[in-house]
Amino acid sequence: ALPEPYQQPLVIPPVLRPTRTDGTTDYYEITQRVADAELIPGVRTPIWGYNGIFPGPTLVSRSGRRTVVKHRNELPVPAVVHLHGGHTPPEFDGYPIDFILPVGAKDDSAWGGMATHLHGALHQGERQYEYPLDQRAATLWYHDHRMDYTGASVWRGLAGFHLVHDDEEGVLGLPAEGRDLPLMIVDRSFAADGTLQYPALDPTMAKQPGVRNAYASGVLGDAILVNGVLWPYAEVPAVRHRLRLLNASNARRYRLVLDPPPPGGKGFVQIGSDGGLLDRPVTHDAIEFASAERFDVVVDFGRYNPGQRVNLVNELGAGSTRQVMQFRVGAKATDDSRVPDVLSSTPALAPASATVQRDFTFRTGSVGAMTGWLTNGKPFDPHRYDAMPKLGDTEIWQFQSDFHHPIHLHLVQFKVISRNNKEPGVYDAGWKDTVDLKPNEQVQVITRFTGYRGRYVFHCHNLEHEDMAMMANFVTT
Ligand code: C2O
Ligand code: CU
Repeated sequence: ALPEPYQQPLVIPPVLRPTRTDGTTDYYEITQRVADAELIPGVRTPIWGYNGIFPGPTLVSRSGRRTVVKHRNELPVPAVVHLHGGHTPPEFDGYPIDFILPVGAKDDSAWGGMATHLHGALHQGERQYEYPLDQRAATLWYHDHRMDYTGASVWRGLAGFHLVHDDEEGVLGLPAEGRDLPLMIVDRSFAADGTLQYPALDPTMAKQPGVRNAYASGVLGDAILVNGVLWPYAEVPAVRHRLRLLNASNARRYRLVLDPPPPGGKGFVQIGSDGGLLDRPVTHDAIEFASAERFDVVVDFGRYNPGQRVNLVNELGAGSTRQVMQFRVGAKATDDSRVPDVLSSTPALAPASATVQRDFTFRTGSVGAMTGWLTNGKPFDPHRYDAMPKLGDTEIWQFQSDFHHPIHLHLVQFKVISRNNKEPGVYDAGWKDTVDLKPNEQVQVITRFTGYRGRYVFHCHNLEHEDMAMMANFVTT
């Protein structure tokens, strides 16, 4: 049986140490492998983990310092690593058919030969990913991205944080160190024997992608884990804490509130979004977010009384998925952190400076005999270029949905400029790489394509939709 909520302490994923560093670069090594995790007390759950743990180890980088990560694949299937939110050259971006084959495998014939057939890059056993990280401080994360099987791989545990710091953020005096908590929130389901249950059409993840029909709108679990712990509690001194909220769920959306709210409400002071610091903080009573979005918030537990218990509750959940975690407020302590009124000043992108507008629909439809999820009526095809923005150009992209689709662009951060021809929503502030598109909504985003030439994907980050072909390419030229 699953444990009662709020009985297990929160764990912070370990920070990975570099194997070496030099004047410009930090080098890391990660082995992806099958391991047992104790997610349910006394029960062993097999997972797939970066270094055998879920979440994977946290990487911490300085903006502008190159980070090189060598991944070794000891999993039974090919792996692809994507640094979500990274401004990364295309060869290191984790294109869905650029495989790291399992150690010992010569090609991908045992997995349907898809990458060979589609001219992906095949690496035997291990490969290096090089990240320039020429970008702002932000909460990034890394996860598997193998074509057709991302949902099943991430569900088994292939996800971790990659935090980027910079000087601009460093001087603000935000809560730091043990008061800066990355929180990866996911839902999962367990079978009676403690194994993770995923309704894959093909559990070997070799030939038949996707999920059973009943799960076409996305796989939801009935248990919530934060940093790999079921409904944890965290003991926090009665001071400000920075919570880096990441929705790493395959398909679940959350609306998180503090229960009870602090006196006067507005318990969440949002300081950052997917792409780093906001220009100014925005206060919220609730944080509503979809798969892959990050909300960087400061909560001042000094507004509560020592001894109080404050639950993080998901108002979109029912029963077991309503509870997320608990904060147990401890004694008052010295707090010299602050949240300045001005956090950053990022240049605005004027809609008038956009040279191109592109339209994309994200809707269900048929892929051969199957029902799938399509972009402009088409399933993913690595060889079809759906947009070819010029480097340096500013473009407006307009998205139209039929269902909830969190739309994610690789390479860039964008700003949301309208929803249904009105103002952006309260959760659209700042630079974003994923926008929470609601059913029958039209959303416009603006971005400037910079950095690297090559092929990148954009896709729905409901991982089942992604695996069922709701992905397309843009090529920067
Ligand atoms: Cu977080 Cu293309 O993915
Ligand atoms: Cu979708």
